[in-house]
Amino acid sequence: MIEIKNLKKYYENRLILEVADLNFSKGKIYSILGRNGAGKSTLLKILGGILSYDEGNLRYDKDNVILSTQEPLFFKGNVIYNLTEPFRLRDLKIESDKMTSLLNKFQIENLKEALVSTLSGGEKAKVQFIRTVLYNKKILLLDEPTASMDKKSTYLVEKILTELRDMGSLIILVTHDYEQAVRISNCIYEVDEGKIIQRGT
Ligand SMILES: Nc1ncnc2c1ncn2[C@@H]1O[C@H](COP(=O)(O)OP(=O)(O)OP(=O)(O)O)[C@@H](O)[C@H]1O
Ligand SMILES: [Mg+2]
Repeated sequence: MIEIKNLKKYYENRLILEVADLNFSKGKIYSILGRNGAGKSTLLKILGGILSYDEGNLRYDKDNVILSTQEPLFFKGNVIYNLTEPFRLRDLKIESDKMTSLLNKFQIENLKEALVSTLSGGEKAKVQFIRTVLYNKKILLLDEPTASMDKKSTYLVEKILTELRDMGSLIILVTHDYEQAVRISNCIYEVDEGKIIQRGT
């Protein structure tokens, strides 16, 4: 559960985000649509705890959140290193079987030893998505995870997200793909000039 009250974020005196009263519940997928620069990534970064806000209140279990940023962030190194090192650094269990299964599902098991810097855009997005899932967090914040993926991979992401939702996860998905939002979400929001409006369920 995430509770947002009177949240405001400014950049250099410009009001970027203004969310009066909004709750997100577990066991649901929320899609957030909206034009470029509307404030979608700003909202996700605030919820992910990597960006400060200026006014308001946020209530949720911050330890149970994983944010998948719009621009993937990787260590210098190969795919396996990027799928294990973040967990090793945090003293978290490395689930090798789950990792191998996801690499197989996304058909990138042959790229395990490849440097992430050499991967294609869609391949990087797959590695980023796999890493996000491996965190096993109950709240997933995903900023355009399928923007550079092909159809088959996009559907696989959607399948995995709906399975996680059915197991009780709370998922907030930023997407420009309205059809995707309709396919998988319980609730659709639009961000417009920093304000968030419900568009459908
Ligand atoms: N560090 C910053 N300093 C000043 N302005 C910023 C900063 N970061 C973002 N902005 C501005 O805040 C607004 C919202 O940006 P945000 O990244 O949240 O948009 P978005 O809805 O995710 O857009 P897109 O669909 O292009 O990803 C934009 O006008 C952007 O230029
Ligand atoms: Mg964005």
